[in-house]
Amino acid sequence: MTSRRQVLTQSAAILGAASTGLILPARAQNAKIRVGLMLPYTGTFTQLGVACDNGFRMALEEKGNKLGGREIEYFKVDDESEPAKGVENANKLVQRDKVDVIIGTVHSGVQMGIHKVARETGVLSIIPNAGMHAATRALCAPNVFRTSFTNSQPTRALGKVMVDKGHKKAVWITWKYAAGDEAGEGFKEGYLAAGGTIVKELGLPFPNVEFQALLTEIASIKPDAVACFFSGGGASKFIRDYAAAGLAGKIPLYGSGFLTEGLLDDELAPSAQGIVTTLHYSASLASKRNDAFRLAYAKMFKMQPDVYAVQGYDAGQLLIQGATAVNGDLSNKKALYAAMENAVVDSPRGKWTMSKAHNPVQDIYLRVVKGKENVVQGIAAKALADSGAGCKLG
Ligand code: BEZ
Repeated sequence: MTSRRQVLTQSAAILGAASTGLILPARAQNAKIRVGLMLPYTGTFTQLGVACDNGFRMALEEKGNKLGGREIEYFKVDDESEPAKGVENANKLVQRDKVDVIIGTVHSGVQMGIHKVARETGVLSIIPNAGMHAATRALCAPNVFRTSFTNSQPTRALGKVMVDKGHKKAVWITWKYAAGDEAGEGFKEGYLAAGGTIVKELGLPFPNVEFQALLTEIASIKPDAVACFFSGGGASKFIRDYAAAGLAGKIPLYGSGFLTEGLLDDELAPSAQGIVTTLHYSASLASKRNDAFRLAYAKMFKMQPDVYAVQGYDAGQLLIQGATAVNGDLSNKKALYAAMENAVVDSPRGKWTMSKAHNPVQDIYLRVVKGKENVVQGIAAKALADSGAGCKLG
């Protein structure tokens, strides 16, 4: 039997070592790191959620499914892109499953729920898509990191591109929720600064896809061009309806790159030719890093990766860098956050760094649909950082 004295001596030794950061207390060192995936696995953003999940798992798989030497265990919640269930679903992972980190999500409204829980509980939160401004602006937090974009980042450079092509009067159309409104904000800033005028702003509630009346209105306005934010299944429907309404080829269509991302199959591509978008990734980026990533992803999942897969992959890469720096001891928050803040992420999109507010500083590419590809035409904005307005970190 172990004496009380032996127990005390052993405990003191463990605590001493743990405080030097050399080893973890025995129980924690053996315990698996609990990773919560909160993503949409049903609904209009299913493709996006699955791609984030795949990308994240692939990054971990490449490291033997270990974080800082520790095994991992996954917990999964389908958030259905349903904002009303955001807090409840995030709490399932934190309170019931006791996860060490939440990877999620796609929809900005749902992210508000995760963000509330992350700020209240201090759980590590890595956002692999949702671009809601507040998460890395006024409501930024030391434990919240994003590997995607802020909603206004991809559209900020779009306006100048349009004006340079002589399209000075535009209609803006989107789903009316945080992502659409904030993408509109970025578009407006860039477009007005370049000398453009927005003649009409149109919207419909997420995830409504009854575009007909709005397309009829666009046809009667006859703007120089249309710019928009849509994504996933809704984006595909918008492109098809735009063509069916006879607008394709008559009124040029622009958007943040989510409009065409991951959607250009045999059926959709004919309706999408010539659509110009701005985004922080394209499958056609010519680099060894992108080629290797695409090949490995295609082998592993028997499908092609898109920007959402890249963002999930980078969420994995970021967590790996952080966990490695603290030898798997995620409770060493100061060192963990410092490593994540200073990370240089070697992404298929190109290397990027973290802003002080914990959002990627990254290049935004100009792309045009040719065949079934978003072909890169150049860089629309170099090393673009979000303003991080109101964030007091760093
Ligand atoms: C969002 O809700 O933040 C979002 C969803 C899909 C693509 C881009 C942003």
